[in-house]
Amino acid sequence: MLKILIKPKDIEKNSPCLDNPHCIVVRNVNKSFGKNHVLKDINLEIPNGHIYGLLGPSGCGKTTLVKIIAGILEANSGETYVLGQAMPQLGLMNKIGYMAQSDALYSSLTAGENLEFFGSIYGMSKAEIKRRTEEVMELVNLSADIHKPVQAYSGGMKRRLSLAMAIMHNPPVLVLDEPTVGIDPLLRKSIWEEFHKLAAQGVTLLVTTHVMDEADKCDNLAMMRDGRLIAKGTSQDLQERIGVQSIEEAFIYYGGQQNEN
Ligand SMILES: Nc1ncnc2c1ncn2[C@@H]1O[C@H](COP(=O)(O)OP(=O)(O)O)[C@@H](O)[C@H]1O
Ligand SMILES: [Mg+2]
Repeated sequence: MLKILIKPKDIEKNSPCLDNPHCIVVRNVNKSFGKNHVLKDINLEIPNGHIYGLLGPSGCGKTTLVKIIAGILEANSGETYVLGQAMPQLGLMNKIGYMAQSDALYSSLTAGENLEFFGSIYGMSKAEIKRRTEEVMELVNLSADIHKPVQAYSGGMKRRLSLAMAIMHNPPVLVLDEPTVGIDPLLRKSIWEEFHKLAAQGVTLLVTTHVMDEADKCDNLAMMRDGRLIAKGTSQDLQERIGVQSIEEAFIYYGGQQNEN
């Protein structure tokens, strides 16, 4: 029926088409909480297979924006597309791995039980769940803690388990809200190596961070301040454009410019 009702032309007109090189497209998005205008005319295009960093100080609107992209929150105006489909879209939920800023885990269950529960929600078979549980727990260096209840986990361990959960079902899109907070530098390095491997396989990653050294590891960056995107480009571009040698300096410069306008 849908094929008859929706002509290909309409699809083209209404949304970025499926072979669009951009995995995520955000157009003129605004979001307010009561009188607090939190996102102001956000426009963003994220190519397939890229690691895209969203950088900005606490409270600037990063979490709100990634929640809209992941389909958890609705914008007041504007449009958001993931894989060519308008968000929010229930049917896309199994294509997006979302890692929330605050860990959404069942603390009385073990890590393995948490993964099993989420795996079954995503429709994975028992054998697949078992295989992926081993893989993802090894990746986040928690293999020895699979049978521990989550309430016995430290903050950093919970963060790592949340990451394992987001990638459990091999989604083509990952939306990760401050994935490496509280994770030690060595493990952070290996997690970033994994992000690059996933991107090389065609997975698109949107990662928020306020850690400036992580910004250099992203293919593209958007700097955010007070609900606006103030600069976009590669880390190199953003620095060269204004003749500075670090992403911190670039951030201060672009942030300052915005205040002067
Ligand atoms: N559910 C909510 N209700 C009301 N205000 C909110 C809510 N979520 C976020 N905010 C406000 O929106 C602004 C941006 O928050 P957030 O998106 O969490 O920023 P960031 O992730 O960059 O720290 C803040 O002023 C915050 O207080
Ligand atoms: Mg946040």
